[in-house]
Amino acid sequence: MPSLSLRNLIEVLEQQQRVRRVARTVDREWEPGCLVKWMYQALPESERFGLLFESVKGSEFRFATGIIGSSREAYATALGVAPHEINEKWVDGLLHPIEPIAVKDAVCQEVVRRGADARLSDLPIPVWTPGKDPAPYITTLVLTKNADTGVPNMGVYRTQVRDDHTVVVNLNPAGQGTRNTHTYTDKGRPAPIAWVVGADPAVLLAATAKLPYGQSEASVAGGLTGEPIPLVKAKTIDLMVPAHAEFIIEGEVIPGEIGNEGPFGEFCGYMGGVGPRPVVRITAITHRRDAIYYAFASQMPPSESTVMQGLTNAGVILKQLRCDIGEPTVADVHIDYHFGGAMGHVLIAMQPRDAAHSKRTGCLVANMTGLKRITMLDTDVDIRDPEHVDWALNARMNPATDIVIVDAAQYGHMDPSVRPVAGKPGPASKLVLDATLKQDAGPFSLPSKDYMNRALETWKAAGLPDFAIPKRAQLRLDRS
Ligand SMILES: Cc1cc2nc3c(=O)[nH]c(=O)nc-3n(C[C@H](O)[C@H](O)[C@H](O)COP(=O)(O)O)c2cc1C
Repeated sequence: MPSLSLRNLIEVLEQQQRVRRVARTVDREWEPGCLVKWMYQALPESERFGLLFESVKGSEFRFATGIIGSSREAYATALGVAPHEINEKWVDGLLHPIEPIAVKDAVCQEVVRRGADARLSDLPIPVWTPGKDPAPYITTLVLTKNADTGVPNMGVYRTQVRDDHTVVVNLNPAGQGTRNTHTYTDKGRPAPIAWVVGADPAVLLAATAKLPYGQSEASVAGGLTGEPIPLVKAKTIDLMVPAHAEFIIEGEVIPGEIGNEGPFGEFCGYMGGVGPRPVVRITAITHRRDAIYYAFASQMPPSESTVMQGLTNAGVILKQLRCDIGEPTVADVHIDYHFGGAMGHVLIAMQPRDAAHSKRTGCLVANMTGLKRITMLDTDVDIRDPEHVDWALNARMNPATDIVIVDAAQYGHMDPSVRPVAGKPGPASKLVLDATLKQDAGPFSLPSKDYMNRALETWKAAGLPDFAIPKRAQLRLDRS
């Protein structure tokens, strides 16, 4: 697909009624945060939409949220594919990355505000959990760089606004952003860092992918769009930033300066704690003339964050299993975004080669990812249909032989089900359920396909209500 800008995407999704405008003036201290929560909590996925707030009290800018991650359909539109093509699009983008190109002029720098003129309160940054979060939070792509290799990294790390010119960024100590900033701060140098707001959707999505350290997200985004992503030099720091973005917030991590971050609503459904995190001094804000401030909605699942992280990382895991580890019989991967996105439940369809193959593959995924439950299924099961999966768990899994518990597979700090040990989070375990066929169980207990197809005509002739054949029924009929 040719590169789609955030603006184009909003237009396209609006035509599909997957984006709705809010014309009345809203208060960023509570209204957008609550409305987007109602959207995810109250509506079924097929009816969800992104929100474009046209007027935010105290800011000249519009505010958008839930755009890419309202549903699987919206996410697929952002990638320029049909929903069933998302995984293969990721496999292709990861296998065929395209290096970004440098440009001299960029729309993201139509307006440049430096130093004291770069005020965070001018942006419509919302409070996401009114009554609980201590401050507004920036929830978008964060760009850092390794000082020694020059290789940049993109991740999404929530960031607490302290005042107009400083923030505390939730760089996870084990994450790649931390690794990069340390290459500067360990030598007493300020580390360049930028928040990229409203970049092209492929760039934003690449930032949610769990990639090996050193692999360029910008190149993967190029692989997804089929053309190089244009980057421009930032105005006050040594970073190349996505040229099509709506805003770039430039800053420096100050060596040795640490502030309290949190509490912030977490993906596990509870409020997180308060922890020490790096302080950043904002050096500039650059933006388009009529910029839209787009931020990802996270916290209680399902959310934009769990949809994006689930759909992205299902594609990443499929590519890893098939191409890096050499498991060509893995056909499909789905992460259930009703919990955590990249830390919840993954369902994997494969054709096992031997009696231990699916269990072995499941244990591999348990150990190499943050996912907590791994359900292994045959390719004749619709892994996105909970009713079909539940049938397979009963019909094809014998608990005494087909369940593996992988203990101490993860540090339990993000998992409220883990009992603390001496006041600290204990080790978290994983569950592998092997619900693949263990024997030739014979034909399905359905009439043969010919009869069932002929009966469709009888159904119609009898004036019974129309229906779309669910994938699970089709898969069963194909073997009947
Ligand atoms: C809305 C949203 C907020 C996120 N917040 C954080 C965060 O504060 N800290 C973190 O380590 N990961 C966070 N993540 C997950 C990371 O962005 C994701 O794991 C990414 O792959 C990390 O990139 P890295 O491996 O290059 O560090 C968030 C994801 C989303 C979509």
